Amino acid sequence: MNIVVLNASPRKMGNTSQLCKKVVDGAMDGGADVEYIDLYSYDFKGCMSCFTCHLKKNLKNPLCYWRDDLKEILKTCLEADAIVLGTPIYYGSISSSAQAFLERLLFAADTYLIDEDGNRVSKIKKEVKTAMIYTMNVPKEMDYFNGEDQLAIMRGYLTAIFGECEALYAYDTKQFKQYSAYVNNMFDAEHKIESEKTQFPKDLKKAYELGKRLSGEISKTD
Ligand SMILES: Cc1cc2nc3c(=O)[nH]c(=O)nc-3n(C[C@H](O)[C@H](O)[C@H](O)COP(=O)(O)O)c2cc1C
Repeated sequence: MNIVVLNASPRKMGNTSQLCKKVVDGAMDGGADVEYIDLYSYDFKGCMSCFTCHLKKNLKNPLCYWRDDLKEILKTCLEADAIVLGTPIYYGSISSSAQAFLERLLFAADTYLIDEDGNRVSKIKKEVKTAMIYTMNVPKEMDYFNGEDQLAIMRGYLTAIFGECEALYAYDTKQFKQYSAYVNNMFDAEHKIESEKTQFPKDLKKAYELGKRLSGEISKTD
């Protein structure tokens, strides 16, 4: 079982990366081979619309042909048994790096073919498990942008083209080490310290379990 875990936050020690690393721990304990990638360490763009992946001669090749730092990473992902992408929420959506990565990954594996049941034909012929991890400042009850619905769009494409896509939402994250140093009256520092102590460990546990589940070691109902 090969699992690729990608952190699409610029902060390499932030909330998203901590959760991603717990997925790695869980997956490794479950016996999987895991590769961890900090996407912000690489220089790449979103889909360049070159359509090389959609040429008839490449129908059987789930590859992105655009040459930049993402090319090799995508090759690894397109051969993996499971792909996990962690992203912070920026203005109600995934980070630009997560968006660029998904455009390239999805289009390389997608086709403009519909089968007799009306479903999209994917170039990926095996079931690939996918998961998205979202971290955000707002507490769940303050989710004013109706995020879980909005974020479901990319998960829908991942499900259609790769396989079932799980979601892990980490709300109410702590953004600053020292809130008093920053311009802010939206977020209460004491509450954030409390949330880091009480809520974040629960999210880390969920991330570990997600990794174990993806490795095949435990089922969703365990
Ligand atoms: C540019 C920017 C925009 C953000 N927009 C939102 C937002 O719309 N909703 C939210 O809940 N948090 C928002 N946040 C907060 C981050 O999503 C949150 O702190 C996240 O856990 C950061 O992850 P990290 O520690 O991995 O960087 C924003 C942060 C930045 C830097």
